[in-house]
Amino acid sequence: MISEKLKKAREFEDQYGPFIKDKNRPDFHLTPTIGWMNDPNGFSVYKGEVHLFYQYHPYSTKWGPMHWGHVKTRDFLHWERLPVALAPDTEYDRNGCFSGSAVELPDGHQLIVYTGVRQVREENGELHEHQTQCVAVGDGVDYEKYEMNPVITAGDLPVGGSAFDFRDPKIWREDGKYYIVVGNRPADGSGSILLYESEDCLSWKYKGVLAACHNQYGRMWECPDFFELDGKHVLLTSPQEMTAIGLEFHAGNGTVCLIGEYDREKCHLLRENVQAIDYGLDFYAPQTLLTPDGRRVMIGWMQNWETSNCQPNYVRCFGQMTLPRELSVRDGRLCQTPVRELEACRSYQILYRNVHLGGLTTLQNVRGRVIDMTVTVRPAVRGGTYSWFKINVAGDGEHMTTVRYKPECSTVRIDRTRCGFPHDIVNVRDFVVSARQGEIKLRLVLDKYSMELFVNDGEQAATTVIYTDVSADAISFDALGGAVMDVEKYDLIL
Ligand code: FRU
Repeated sequence: MISEKLKKAREFEDQYGPFIKDKNRPDFHLTPTIGWMNDPNGFSVYKGEVHLFYQYHPYSTKWGPMHWGHVKTRDFLHWERLPVALAPDTEYDRNGCFSGSAVELPDGHQLIVYTGVRQVREENGELHEHQTQCVAVGDGVDYEKYEMNPVITAGDLPVGGSAFDFRDPKIWREDGKYYIVVGNRPADGSGSILLYESEDCLSWKYKGVLAACHNQYGRMWECPDFFELDGKHVLLTSPQEMTAIGLEFHAGNGTVCLIGEYDREKCHLLRENVQAIDYGLDFYAPQTLLTPDGRRVMIGWMQNWETSNCQPNYVRCFGQMTLPRELSVRDGRLCQTPVRELEACRSYQILYRNVHLGGLTTLQNVRGRVIDMTVTVRPAVRGGTYSWFKINVAGDGEHMTTVRYKPECSTVRIDRTRCGFPHDIVNVRDFVVSARQGEIKLRLVLDKYSMELFVNDGEQAATTVIYTDVSADAISFDALGGAVMDVEKYDLIL
């Protein structure tokens, strides 16, 4: 049975979605059918296809009562739109169906677990959001909310856990049982990730605190994901109210990856390394899935809460997802590269070798806004060095977005100050990369309104949205001091 609210949302997107012209959307990064999109949800394989849901407010380009938008894909690049999956249409989720995840059940159904939000005026007059975990079961298009929802409530929290910050369950199946990790705010006011176990996804048992923030990496930890990768266990989470730690974690809404050993007995992650997930300006709330061929693939919201109300007013739909990325753990660090499916879209190869840079340089046929380009730069003289190297993309006389590498301090800077943003917001981010005697490999994937940078075969990723008109497609290179580069550039054609 489809509720009035869900019917209305489906009709709304059918009516107005087609007005958004394809030319105003990126070619292969997902945007909402209409309106607003934030976190990826329910990123999972169901009946051999990859399903992705997202936090969705179809009625405006601003965040509002959360629905779940829905798409599916076979190659992570072409997305088939499906009708809105969930609307905030029950007592326990009347103020929003917040983030969650999905799993295929042995009986062939798909189960969604999400956070139901209900605002309550407390006795003292304060308005609080009560957050509980709920489930819905469906066939890949229509979902029925469980009649006994919510399935995890304040009563299932450890002592001191907040019922108002308790959200974003991520589900997986292991050894015939189901597990979820959920973000929570413990008594110290910061964040923690709780673990629950179930035989049937309906009745859940609290198992313990998988990891706690102790006010070290931001405060409330949102959108957790937990999985095994390359012999380690990896916990991804997105902390709110982060204060910067050197150049590793920036202030505001950040992302954190904890890598270590999982003590199953104690239900606890013994952390060995903590790092940012993405070092750019626009990346939050990522979620992963395991492909049938064994790849751990991550997708993130290619935005940041800090700047999400800064879109130009001509934008008809707001929010993009990143390119899905294959994850690995190398030398105790999380690495990420674009899904290999992207390589099938590479056309018109342009190659340059040993280009000596002595000032601003352009190369014939190296331009474009939907491209995959790898640039390797090194000192012109073996054992020598140079002061800096720059790549400028999305350029015209007025605009450009820049990637700069400084060998002396091993830092990379992405700078979109001149990308045409109509707001005075954070536009620059620096991060430390591994030192390799002045040699660095920079892979840039551009898709009209974004730039995703992968450093040294995925040791680090840095993502930024740009609003530059697509006619600004010039690319130039620059260096101070003796540098030499190789360039391999492809147009991406879908
Ligand atoms: C993260 C988040 C989640 C929440 C959702 C609401 O971006 O705040 O914690 O479920 O967005 O849209």
